[in-house]
Amino acid sequence: MQNIKKRIADKIAQGVKGINPDAEINAADVVGMLEYPPDANMGDLAFPCFKLSKILRRSPVQIAQVIAEGLSDEAVSKVEAVNGYLNITLSNVFLSQNVVKEILEKKETYGSQTFGEGKMVVLDYSSPNVAKPFHIGHLGTTVIGHSLRKLHEFAGYQCYGINYLGDWGTQFGKLIVAYRKWGSREAVETEGIDKLVELYVRINNAIKGDPEKGIPADDGLAEESRAEFHKLEMGDEENLELWKWFVSISLKEYERTYKQLGIEFDSYKGESFYTDKMPAQVQKLRDMDLLKIDDGASIVDLSEYNMPPCLILKRDGSTLYPTRDIAAAVYRKENYHFDKAIYVTSAQQCLHFAQWFKVVEMMGYPWYDELVHVPYGTVSLNGAKLATRTGNVVLLRDLFELAVEKVAGIMAEKSPDLENKMEVAEAVGVGAIVFYYLSNTRMKDINFVMEEALSFDGNTGPYVQYTYARACSVLNRAGAIADAEVKIESDEEAALVKTLARFGERVCAAIADYEPSYITRFILDVAVAFNRFYHNCPIMTAEDPAVRASRLKLTEATKIVLGNAFDLICLKKTEKI
Ligand code: ARG
Repeated sequence: MQNIKKRIADKIAQGVKGINPDAEINAADVVGMLEYPPDANMGDLAFPCFKLSKILRRSPVQIAQVIAEGLSDEAVSKVEAVNGYLNITLSNVFLSQNVVKEILEKKETYGSQTFGEGKMVVLDYSSPNVAKPFHIGHLGTTVIGHSLRKLHEFAGYQCYGINYLGDWGTQFGKLIVAYRKWGSREAVETEGIDKLVELYVRINNAIKGDPEKGIPADDGLAEESRAEFHKLEMGDEENLELWKWFVSISLKEYERTYKQLGIEFDSYKGESFYTDKMPAQVQKLRDMDLLKIDDGASIVDLSEYNMPPCLILKRDGSTLYPTRDIAAAVYRKENYHFDKAIYVTSAQQCLHFAQWFKVVEMMGYPWYDELVHVPYGTVSLNGAKLATRTGNVVLLRDLFELAVEKVAGIMAEKSPDLENKMEVAEAVGVGAIVFYYLSNTRMKDINFVMEEALSFDGNTGPYVQYTYARACSVLNRAGAIADAEVKIESDEEAALVKTLARFGERVCAAIADYEPSYITRFILDVAVAFNRFYHNCPIMTAEDPAVRASRLKLTEATKIVLGNAFDLICLKKTEKI
């Protein structure tokens, strides 16, 4: 649609100049003003003339009429001037000959863009905190982050994905103490991260105590944990060994989940990596006179920007989350030379990012405006909010497992003869969760309802993956497609082609707004349009071989576009379900 819009915009701009040669308007402006009418009766594109009224000193109604009379283009079959709008209907012949042909020629590059070429994007996402549970709350950062990566790659950017592991901090002191008290090498080796989480939860509960049950808080244990972390920071060998081991056990677990999602990272440089990179930044802050001492702590005052101060050093001189983020950003700029650095986290961290981005600006780093925080809303499960510290959490792994199990059950009934059943069940089960999650705009708070996510006939992952498999199955049965022209003869065919044609635009909008949900909704639009076409237009049983070939080509184009869009949102392409 981008090309079609451009050529029509050219003609409209000419029309405007015809009315007033001095009017300052170009085709790109017109592209931005074109709209999709809410109703198919009003055509495929609309151009509102209201804004031009002032420059052209005529009424919108007159302007629309004059431009409509002069507008003719191969891509357009009808133009009407209605109440100050140009309503444009696209030519089916043009669409048949251009859109489908382009899709079939470009295949997996159809919809891709070039505006990112030569630019580098660094994406910081997923970034779980080691030894704390990897739970459903991390679904957002993981799948939004990866989709943004895929989208940027699709637009030509070079991308570098960083898993900024939360692999440093007082939680390791706690874990070390808990492990020595209640754990064993054997138990951690066999039970893996579950054991670590159990130990972590146990020590947190012990430290907190339970006043209701008359169990007092254990300050001694808290003190001991701080001391062990301090030893770790000082490079104590035994603690370092344990720490490394805890990290590697956790990583193994995360990698399983990443594999299910088809995600890989370029770097796992976590918080610990930046320990020795912070002092230089703290010194710079001090040299620039930006650090203030407040109750013993070092802060950057942000009152001028209506924000609470950014904490740089605690009273005991230890560094904080923002300190590390500043050091990491400087390192990444120097080493990866990004044009844009994207951070995907829950909206609860909005203030944190706003604060340290501002500090980076105050430090005089000219790239401060290349930092982008992409927040998302909270996730709850059937209403229950998910906490990390209590142990009362839903692990992502368990959620995936449950979904896969349920899908396997459905498939055992629906398609008992399917080969590699487990693989398909995993793709559909995990896909259902990803799709359900990404169907919402990212800032919306989501209540996760498993039954809805897994349904085969709602607006779900299984529904769109099933649609993809349906297109594949038609194509497999058909074998080689005869060389015929694509001809659009029915409304369903026209609607399908027009939907497919919008892919590139959706990609651009999704990148501009950091919104993978645009792709999810696009996929649904395509699935709905394809299924209407499939049910109303005989494909294999079409009598005329030319019609059959044309419809098969349309089916193939749908498969390509759906597949390309699936790739952008971590959804696996299922040839058979
Ligand atoms: N580990 C953090 C958490 O789970 C997220 C890190 C986000 N990235 C960053 N550069 N701060 O809350």
